[in-house]
Amino acid sequence: MPVDTWFPLAIYYEDLPDAAQHRATLVKAVLDLEAASYAHRNFPEMAWTGDLHGVEQIHADPRFTWVVRQVEAHTWLYLQELGLDLSQVDLYIQRAWPVVSRHQQEVGDHCHNTAHISAVYYVAVPESGSDQAGCLTFFDDMRPNQVCPGLGGENTDIINTWNYLNQDQALYLPTEGRLILFPAKQRHGVTLNHTEGLRISLSFDIVLTAAPGQAAGSYEFLMPPPSQWRRFESRQPG
Ligand SMILES: [Fe+2]
Repeated sequence: MPVDTWFPLAIYYEDLPDAAQHRATLVKAVLDLEAASYAHRNFPEMAWTGDLHGVEQIHADPRFTWVVRQVEAHTWLYLQELGLDLSQVDLYIQRAWPVVSRHQQEVGDHCHNTAHISAVYYVAVPESGSDQAGCLTFFDDMRPNQVCPGLGGENTDIINTWNYLNQDQALYLPTEGRLILFPAKQRHGVTLNHTEGLRISLSFDIVLTAAPGQAAGSYEFLMPPPSQWRRFESRQPG
């Protein structure tokens, strides 16, 4: 009895070969930025995220040049795998920030709504390769095989076996030196860090635009290059 499956979500990952030699520099840079940032928001169960504390431009910080180059190279490979004509697009890092998750901290579910592709790089992970420091969890909001809406939820828990045809989430074990790329609109979160160590990662939001001089601006669903935008001179009505 064949059962076909269709429409896969493409999550790209690569273990960067030079990761170990950059680890110490990146850890220090992140912790220095955290120490100099705004006062921590008062949610002890939430990991420290740079974007909420005024640290969201590490792509412009020379201490992160190596990892920015890696993100660039692998984003092109990811888009190539997705079948895009790379000559038609430009890529921008829109913002990038560190995340530090301490004991019993997590990152709640969210999407990166202002970006197209998101990347995460694991700088330092206690018990790397296990689920102990907190898994990146992707959630399936489409649920194509959930034949009755809500089936398997708290109030209608009649699923005997969770398998690849009814799974509603996919977990990635945090692995030091690994870069992961995924569609920014895919809802995701990070589970609790059960270790006593620091789980340090970097997040990147990437935007696609049309390449200047190509079909720039004529694609209904591809943003024209920012060089062709005009900012309003006025900042108020009238
Ligand atoms: Fe995220």
